Amino acid sequence: MNRDPLDPGSLGSLHGPVPRHIAVIMDGNGRWAAARGLPRRAGHQEGMKAVREVIEGCAEAGVGILTLFAFSTDNWQRPEEEIHALMGLLRLYAGQEKEELREKGVEVRVLGDLSRLDEATLGSVRAIQRETRGGARMRLNLMVSYSGRADILGAVRAIAARVREGVLEVADIDGDAFASHLLTGSLPDPDLLIRTSGELRISNFMLWQFAYTEIYTTPVLWPDFTQADLREALVEYQRRERRFGRVPSS
Ligand code: IPE
Ligand code: IPE
Ligand code: MG
Repeated sequence: MNRDPLDPGSLGSLHGPVPRHIAVIMDGNGRWAAARGLPRRAGHQEGMKAVREVIEGCAEAGVGILTLFAFSTDNWQRPEEEIHALMGLLRLYAGQEKEELREKGVEVRVLGDLSRLDEATLGSVRAIQRETRGGARMRLNLMVSYSGRADILGAVRAIAARVREGVLEVADIDGDAFASHLLTGSLPDPDLLIRTSGELRISNFMLWQFAYTEIYTTPVLWPDFTQADLREALVEYQRRERRFGRVPSS
């Protein structure tokens, strides 16, 4: 079949390597709302549709792990009202979607400093994790109250404690041992990072895990991001040559 690579056709029919792990900085909700004279929370609400599209698209494309940056440690500095709206959407999402995600075989994990969540939100998080446990088709990480630096500091503290207890030798702290103490644990690093809304920065996301991640940015605002946009990112990914510091393959 001769398909135009930019044809927004089926995600299941992509030729070439599909990323094993995709990370997404879902950005531009506020600007989407402002452009319509709406409150920021309306942009976050609209962004939920894009979340559903991308989860479905990734599952169809055969992506094994999808990691979505939903709320950063630094986002706690936003106005109370916006934080409240975002936590409300997380509860709504977890409540509404857990059944369908379970049926689709999507295992959900919520990763970040969950001690800062209120009781109701924490309850919803626990419920969606419990009810989707064991889903074998795709792993979905929702990064909430997460930052890359906090993740690294948490790993350093855990490792220091193990050394102090005498169960870990300093000489045994290698890359794999370190990564196993991050919130992403034994998962492979993301192959592809997608950031929407045209910003060209990492914003304290997975600082350790992005060592060799391919970065794709698009001016599309998150609420407007569709499966056709996801397909474009995947096609662009397939054009990249990943070298990992080596010479080009002949
Ligand atoms: C991303 O959209 C969602 C979160 C950070 C929670 P923003 O809220 O950052 O939207 P912009 O960047 O202000 O447009
Ligand atoms: C990153 O976006 C965090 C999330 C998408 C959850 P931000 O909008 O918070 O990042 P900056 O402020 O543009 O760097
Ligand atoms: Mg933003």
